[in-house]
Amino acid sequence: MDSTSQKPVVLITGASAGIGDAIARRFAAGGYNIVAVARREDRLQKLAGDLEGIAEVVVVAGDVSAAGIPERAVEAAMQIFGRLDCLVNNAGSGKWAPVHETDDATLDEVIDISMKAPFRFCRAAIPVMAAGSSIINVGSVFGTLGGLDGGIYCAVKAGLVGLTQTMAAQYGADGIRSNLVAPGVIRTDMTEAAWEAPPFQRVNHEMTPFNREGTTEDVANTIFFLASDQGSYINGQSIALDGGWSTTKYLCKEALLSERVAD
Ligand SMILES: NC(=O)c1ccc[n+]([C@@H]2O[C@H](COP(=O)([O-])OP(=O)(O)OC[C@H]3O[C@@H](n4cnc5c(N)ncnc54)[C@H](OP(=O)(O)O)[C@@H]3O)[C@@H](O)[C@H]2O)c1
Repeated sequence: MDSTSQKPVVLITGASAGIGDAIARRFAAGGYNIVAVARREDRLQKLAGDLEGIAEVVVVAGDVSAAGIPERAVEAAMQIFGRLDCLVNNAGSGKWAPVHETDDATLDEVIDISMKAPFRFCRAAIPVMAAGSSIINVGSVFGTLGGLDGGIYCAVKAGLVGLTQTMAAQYGADGIRSNLVAPGVIRTDMTEAAWEAPPFQRVNHEMTPFNREGTTEDVANTIFFLASDQGSYINGQSIALDGGWSTTKYLCKEALLSERVAD
């Protein structure tokens, strides 16, 4: 393409699976072209094939924490589409352990993928973004309140809230909005292994005042809304997608009335 795309353009990291895949499909349905970033090129090509005729998808295969990848992805948006309207920093490490059990390799890996990479993508994207653009970071409810065993996962997600707020202050007056979504637990590859375990059941059912589990589409729909004109006065916010888990002290009646068993 040698002229500016008529359609708006979104750059999505971690678009090869789970929440990122749902975000890509939602933006495609909403009229965007897409720059899709992740390590598994075959998954990104499959996404591009699925969206043929709906959206143009440019695949940038690589590790978000590798040098040059953010710049390569932003350059792809500008060279192929001539614009970049939205950046969604979704790729993240799911490594999760208490502080006293976290070694330096894990510490560095989670910070590299989930904190430094979003920062670098923002740094690369902001200079090419025009007024009306926006950035959405994917945090977690476990970055807005304490959660057992979260360790560096929770620390970097809290860091993303700070990054979102400082960018809201820095670039809001230029018409570039920054927001964060904070999902509760959503069934994806990241959580599949633990999905049936008691802690997930408690969070999803006993402690959430809602009659169904959250889905990747719930997250994608909210991100799309935040990027759209419908959300054009929302800046610097963290929106929890957790059915009310983080804002209530809900406990279902069965749990509330059960006796606590002492160890
Ligand atoms: N699922 C939940 O319950 C939940 C709750 C709160 C927040 N979140 C957040 O939501 C985001 C997406 O998670 P998910 O549940 O959709 O997980 P997922 O299904 O495991 O997908 C993770 C995505 O991130 C990509 N990714 C991971 N590391 C990467 C790296 N180093 N370089 C490039 N891409 C990388 C993966 O692609 P490749 O493997 O192909 O590189 C994949 O597309 C994460 O930031 C996560 O922390 C999830």
